[in-house]
Amino acid sequence: MKIIDGISRMQTMVKIIKKEGKSIGFVPTMGYLHDGHASLARSARAHTDVVVMSIFVNPLQFGPSEDFNRYPRDFARDEDIARRAGVDIIFYPKKEEMYPARYCTYVDVEGLASGLCGASRPGHFRGVTTVVAKLFLIVKPDMAYFGQKDAQQAIVIKRMVEDLNMGIDVKILPIVREKDGLAMSSRNVYLSKVERADAAVLYESLKKAGEMIEGGERDPKKVINAMSDMIKTKPSMRVDYISIVEAKTLKEVDAISGEVLAALAVFAGNTRLVDNVILKA
Ligand code: PAJ
Repeated sequence: MKIIDGISRMQTMVKIIKKEGKSIGFVPTMGYLHDGHASLARSARAHTDVVVMSIFVNPLQFGPSEDFNRYPRDFARDEDIARRAGVDIIFYPKKEEMYPARYCTYVDVEGLASGLCGASRPGHFRGVTTVVAKLFLIVKPDMAYFGQKDAQQAIVIKRMVEDLNMGIDVKILPIVREKDGLAMSSRNVYLSKVERADAAVLYESLKKAGEMIEGGERDPKKVINAMSDMIKTKPSMRVDYISIVEAKTLKEVDAISGEVLAALAVFAGNTRLVDNVILKA
């Protein structure tokens, strides 16, 4: 496994790989890897010749009061997990090279990025699409792998790729969960013992939504209220939002039909956790 921390060195490497006629599978991450990230790399390993994983904590997608500075980082541990997942190249660019002082170009996906997490985190998706566009232009992947864990991010990136004719095949892979159902996340390390135990209620509430819809409930408000009541039984959890939207367009629905996305963001202390499920009525 190679580690490349310079943009031009990465670009030279990409040219060599392409010249050899090999395909590139790309897994963008912010590091502090867990099995969710590894599952993306394993899929890339199975379907492409050269697996590139980027590790870059992207300052542009964090709000001024968010956790950029304390976001967990452990490169040695990441190296080990990446190697075992079959990564060939870790691209580990420096903030100063990604965003030099004169930097002024941004990618904005309108509409799709404004609801759900976009409403609570203004500018977040602009930061995500900008960095992913830059990474795509540097790595020039044939396939790129994202997790359903960040459902809105996945949809926004797919749209960016389509709108800007990037010609990259974007794969969205299922959420990898802990034994009690909590979605794996680099941020779970922030949770206190009590918060960690209480956080299992997030997935419980999403399962409850599934049961209600399966039982014939079609009123999103009733489902959302039941989820909210469940989460409120855990005093360490504070709901940011719970939404039921059309799975493809992320539009709010008046009545549940077809495929919907039940998505939530919940604060456990200062830690913001997200989770979702796709449900069929
Ligand atoms: P990060 O949070 O590190 O996640 C990197 C990728 O791993 C994302 O596609 C995310 O959806 C996926 N992922 C995270 N937890 C997962 C889980 N439990 N199961 C399956 N997949 C999971 O998302 C980002 O970084 C950044 O926004 C990034 C796209 C790298 C741009 O900076």
